[in-house]
Amino acid sequence: MDGKKKKFYIHTFGCQMNFHDSEKISGVLSESGFSEASDGEDADLIIFNTCSIREKAEQKFLSELGRIRNLKRHKPGLKIAVAGCVAQQMGGKLLKKAPYVDYLIGPQNLHALKGISPLKPIKDMPALSIAENPELAFMELPAARGKKPGAWVSIMYGCDNFCTYCIVPHTRGREVCRPWESIRQEVEGLAAEGFKEVTFLGQNVNSYSSGLDFRGLLAMADRIDGIKRIRFVTSHPRDLSVALIQAMGSIGKLCEHIHLPLQSGSDTILARMNRRYSFGDYREKIERLRRQAPGIAITTDIIAGFPGETDSDHEATMAALKEIEYDGIFAFKYSPRPGTAASIFGGQVPDSVRSRRLNEILALQDEITARKNMSLVGSVQEVMVEGPSEKNTGKLTGRTRTNKIVNFDTGKKDPGKNISPGTIVNLKIIRAGRHSLEGKVPEE
Ligand code: SAH
Ligand code: SF4
Ligand code: F3S
Repeated sequence: MDGKKKKFYIHTFGCQMNFHDSEKISGVLSESGFSEASDGEDADLIIFNTCSIREKAEQKFLSELGRIRNLKRHKPGLKIAVAGCVAQQMGGKLLKKAPYVDYLIGPQNLHALKGISPLKPIKDMPALSIAENPELAFMELPAARGKKPGAWVSIMYGCDNFCTYCIVPHTRGREVCRPWESIRQEVEGLAAEGFKEVTFLGQNVNSYSSGLDFRGLLAMADRIDGIKRIRFVTSHPRDLSVALIQAMGSIGKLCEHIHLPLQSGSDTILARMNRRYSFGDYREKIERLRRQAPGIAITTDIIAGFPGETDSDHEATMAALKEIEYDGIFAFKYSPRPGTAASIFGGQVPDSVRSRRLNEILALQDEITARKNMSLVGSVQEVMVEGPSEKNTGKLTGRTRTNKIVNFDTGKKDPGKNISPGTIVNLKIIRAGRHSLEGKVPEE
């Protein structure tokens, strides 16, 4: 070696699970003796941790990859690894299309990274690590986590639901749950390191089962000293049980927020999506949640223009948004994904119609979000401080239990020194926008 430490750089796309996987990639490589580069130009190994949920996400990655090709021309020793869902989904096809890619590591095979060490030639690693891995739940990898106070914790991997539009079961494999004892150990370790909030991650956390069910897992985390808040993503409406709904109001550290993807307000479309609930079932669960935990924030995902979606199906979605009044939504144009059932359904909706419906959905929700946030003005909210606000360094930022961002002025010159991340403050909400609230420390 040339005496200088070999460096890696990770570029991450996609969901929280992928961002957490990147923390694991970073943890494994750091343990092997690599250090993290501040940008791609400075790295000996560039890792793309990719997402293929929609065509756009995949294209964003492919265009980035094209750019790196030039970098590699100038720097022949540079190695490129593609991890994540595109690696899994494209497999060898990606290596053919982009022969300058050195390694493919699917999301079920991050442990393969242990094979690369800065002390031995990087070429000793197998180029393809994309086999199904049923042992994944038992493989513990060190995660190099980002800023406190919040930490992601995987509780399960994969998905068995096969919603007809979705690529995830094809890339992340079958659902497997981590043993609860490993999860407990990890959360205890995080508390000891000073993390104050944990977010349990899984594609369908309500179906967690490994000695404990999901409610049992939440109750376990509730008893760990040092942890002040517990969150989770994502729930599938069909598996949201009465027991879990009861937990929402009764487990003290469990925050009053649930992300419950509806996808469509039309029962015909829900059936074609293989979601296995009707809008009526969904509404009943929302009503129970609101009775159990008044003030709970509810967010959702919506797909516009699923194959076969008529104007009246779209209107049913609009009506559902008006009725439920979500705190926030993520809405997407339907994107056909290779190998999924819906990609070959009849009745594909033209792009212009998908765009129009998406815009209508977003405009309607914007109004609802603004109205909901406005209704908080004047209230006092429990906010966990995260650090200096990104836009205005004179302010601090944090989140309510309902997951709303609150920026606030402490009135002190260097607020970061006075209030550390993880501190809980009660703030009076004085202004509300669509994306954040503004709070004020009540007069002492
Ligand atoms: N496991 C999570 C969702 C993971 S994907 C769940 O079931 O809730 C996140 C969101 O992306 C989905 O909820 C869906 O709204 C959207 N999505 C997934 N596949 C899509 C596709 N092919 N086109 C458009 N949106 C899609
Ligand atoms: Fe995809 Fe459905 Fe699984 Fe969510 S539950 S990851 S939408 S298949
Ligand atoms: Fe996540 Fe994208 Fe894969 S949303 S699960 S990284 S396809």
